[in-house]
Amino acid sequence: MAKQPIPHPVLSTSRLRLRQFRPDDSDAMHRCFSDADAMRFWNHPAYTKRSESERAVRRFIDCTPSYYRFWAVAEVETDRCIGMVNYHDGQMRSRRVTIGYIVDPDRQRDGIATEAVAAMLGFCFGELGLHRVQALIHPDNAASRGLAEKLGFRCEGRLRDHLRVAGEWRDDMLYALLKTDARGQA
Ligand SMILES: CC(C)(COP(=O)(O)OP(=O)(O)OC[C@H]1O[C@@H](n2cnc3c(N)ncnc32)[C@H](O)[C@@H]1OP(=O)(O)O)[C@@H](O)C(=O)NCCC(=O)NCCS
Repeated sequence: MAKQPIPHPVLSTSRLRLRQFRPDDSDAMHRCFSDADAMRFWNHPAYTKRSESERAVRRFIDCTPSYYRFWAVAEVETDRCIGMVNYHDGQMRSRRVTIGYIVDPDRQRDGIATEAVAAMLGFCFGELGLHRVQALIHPDNAASRGLAEKLGFRCEGRLRDHLRVAGEWRDDMLYALLKTDARGQA
């Protein structure tokens, strides 16, 4: 008998529903991916064409759960997508992933990322049984560094020329939260 695909896990918080992406989330993600400020520290330049965001959303729909998974961050009441959280670079033998996140520029500074990423961490340390969750953050990305620190991540150092974006080398700060850290148990 053919294997049934495992349904995409839905994660709920008081204001948010983290669910699988759908093609009709492309406009919402284009608001994020075309915003030069939000994309300043991303691993690719801001998109100029809607088709680029459509293609990205198509990639977000297909997951390889042991390696990467993307969630649309949707408002509970409207189901409207207002951002994305993901884990990627899964190293299941070492029970480790790296995470990423972006929130609609008009919805930032309202605790959305704190709520969404905390829910994803619960899934990573709980259902996935991971031991270590990492975040690689540009040294000048104060918002992302503040978020990681608020969630209990520790900065473990600076990785030189770790990323190449539009022909330029960039450093990354390596942040990590372990399941055995106080906040990893929350
Ligand atoms: C990083 C990002 C996802 C944070 O989303 P958000 O929903 O605004 O974050 P929250 O409101 O939950 O804030 C959590 C903490 O982050 C820090 N923070 C958020 N925005 C900040 C800003 N503009 N400047 C400084 N610190 C900031 C604060 O410590 C904040 O805690 P506080 O509200 O108690 O002070 C958002 O700024 C974003 O989408 N940035 C562009 C994409 C990006 O750089 N992603 C990360 C790549 S590594």
